[in-house]
Amino acid sequence: MAIGEKYRAVHQRSLTEPEAFWAEQAEAIDWSKRWDKVLDGSKAPFYRWFAGGELNTCHNALDRHVAGKRADQPALIYDSPVTNTKKTFTYRELRDAVAKLAGAIAARGVGKGDRVIIYMPMIPEAVMAMLACARLGAVHSVVFGGFAANELAARIDDCSPKLVLSASCGLEPGRIVHYKPLLDQAIEMAKHKVGHCIVLQRPQATAFLVKGRDADWTEAVAAAEPHACVPVKATDPLYILYTSGTTGQPKGVVRDNGGYAVALAWSMQYLYGVNPGEVWWCASDVGWVVGHSYICYGPLIHGATTVLYEGKPVGTPDAGAFWRVISEHKAVALFTAPTAFRAIKKEDPEGKLLKNYDLSKFRTLFLAGERGDPPTVEWAQKLLGVPIVDHWWQTETGWAICGNFVGLDPMPVKLGSCSVPAPGWDMQVLDEQGHPMKAGEVGALAAKLPMPPGTFPTLWNADERFRTSYLADYPGYYKTGDAGFIDEDGYVSVMTRVDDVINVAGHRLSTGQMEEVLASHKDVAECAVIGVADELKGQVPLGFVVLKAGVNRPDAEIVTEIVSLVRDKIGPVAAFKQAVIVKRLPKTRSGKILRGTMQKIADSQAFKQPATIDDPAILGEILDSLKPLGYAKDASSQGTL
Ligand code: COA
Ligand code: AMP
Repeated sequence: MAIGEKYRAVHQRSLTEPEAFWAEQAEAIDWSKRWDKVLDGSKAPFYRWFAGGELNTCHNALDRHVAGKRADQPALIYDSPVTNTKKTFTYRELRDAVAKLAGAIAARGVGKGDRVIIYMPMIPEAVMAMLACARLGAVHSVVFGGFAANELAARIDDCSPKLVLSASCGLEPGRIVHYKPLLDQAIEMAKHKVGHCIVLQRPQATAFLVKGRDADWTEAVAAAEPHACVPVKATDPLYILYTSGTTGQPKGVVRDNGGYAVALAWSMQYLYGVNPGEVWWCASDVGWVVGHSYICYGPLIHGATTVLYEGKPVGTPDAGAFWRVISEHKAVALFTAPTAFRAIKKEDPEGKLLKNYDLSKFRTLFLAGERGDPPTVEWAQKLLGVPIVDHWWQTETGWAICGNFVGLDPMPVKLGSCSVPAPGWDMQVLDEQGHPMKAGEVGALAAKLPMPPGTFPTLWNADERFRTSYLADYPGYYKTGDAGFIDEDGYVSVMTRVDDVINVAGHRLSTGQMEEVLASHKDVAECAVIGVADELKGQVPLGFVVLKAGVNRPDAEIVTEIVSLVRDKIGPVAAFKQAVIVKRLPKTRSGKILRGTMQKIADSQAFKQPATIDDPAILGEILDSLKPLGYAKDASSQGTL
């Protein structure tokens, strides 16, 4: 068989016979009621997979393995260098813990369809919390620990949870993140009133519990009866996960139960090439979609062992941490973000620490969250001697849009490309009028509808926003928000976002949202935030601020205030650390701020002065303001100004 022939046959069939293809893949899942229709397009462009089917995702992740051969197989290995703890849970132990926690949640009046917010660090109880909600048919929404109270409050108001599951603290290198005061503040700020909280007291910090509202996790679980799995519709929501949009109002991406389980089971085997019973490690966070799909649900549905790592790639204790975890737990594959490898490379450029560990079981490294930059991928290739697979996906899609399907038909890796489309993804590059472009030309990356199972059917309580944000620009397509090209061999390269989303250390952030925060400062008349290139994090945000007339305070003082305002309002994850005060912002004659041009200047890239610019002299002022920060080193010498 020629290289890629097997992949191409599978991909082709998924497009020409989607119902037959996905019905076959659905056999990997236990259904309490089989579906009536594999793909329901009766309300297109709102599609539903496995309509009429019923299942329980927690049953598929735990109970069926306990009833089968895997009761005593490790399901989850918790490895926490920040607390010096390691603990393994077998499938039986995890199922029992989840069933009891589900009992405690149900005892607080939470049932099918009710929302539960999970605001927790990387501890086993976070995974238990997700599975316990799934067990009851309740809809969880995990909020990443690096978000501030304000963001948590926005999510509470949007999904109106009956209950919040939390912990007293998280541990970041060098500091304790006190979750509970942030939670109390968020509940105070939110209009929706949360009835109950269950809080895990970690030994590193004890939280104050509000009488009548907050319960101690250990006591609540001890007092609970185990709860059985509640069947739900395949099309019922399993979770809502908020992600950055173009405004301060985050988008509540909805995930269903049936299609998601099917897609995850398929991808564990054929994309990641992991067999049931093997150890798999996804070094992300449960607060991100990657953590939902491949720390929690994917590996467990597949009967693999998942590693939950509470630590960093460097500093916990050193740049050999990833090699230690892989070797100690005999992981066959690791999934992380390129930024983690850049961090390791920076500290240990020759990879000397690798020599201390046995990675003989390790087969593949998967990278996603941002483009796998060729220098980092090449470094990892040379060091590890295994395939390095860049794959592309989004919170919205739930699993990969493109990748290299090493469990099906490994294809040659092309540096800078995230390889080829996954089954069900009919990828096209479109020009501004929505016409398909030629191979190699850069345009908007869009997918022909319907998207495959596992992708988002809509946004929470916002069908219209779903339609206008993703489907309206190119009728019949899903607009990914990314731009790139497809080469003659069908390999896709993702180059940049077309909106104001930036990618900081693999975290998706909205510059529009940061601008809203900056604009709320009393002295700020106008502002712009752009993402500038950063060696470690890929991109970092940089603010430009025009002050109101008459403000006469030192620039440094105002910059310090706006930096802490972003940290307070969005959270440390925004990594907003730098801003410059400028007299004016460059704009077009119609008043549009030229953020793209500012970014090129900051990154010392060649740029053309836009024909519609209002006053070209402002670009020179921007350049001068950036030089003291170490940006815009060569822009003027390129003769582009
Ligand atoms: N809770 C609270 N705060 C958090 C947090 C959490 N769960 N995660 C990160 N933060 C904080 C950090 O402590 C940091 O705070 P600081 O400004 O006080 O230093 C801030 O948010 C920014 O974090 P980050 O951008 O991650 O930078 P970092 O310097 O802490 O770490 C890396 C840099 C590269 C080591 C780290 O980003 C990393 O491991 N990235 C991999 C990301 C990943 O796997 N993403 C998943 C997508 S696939
Ligand atoms: P998130 O929703 O947080 O997963 O972020 C999704 C965005 O991250 C995508 O729209 C891309 O801009 C970017 N991204 C994720 N994976 C890749 C990749 N492999 N290559 C390029 N960009 C990526």
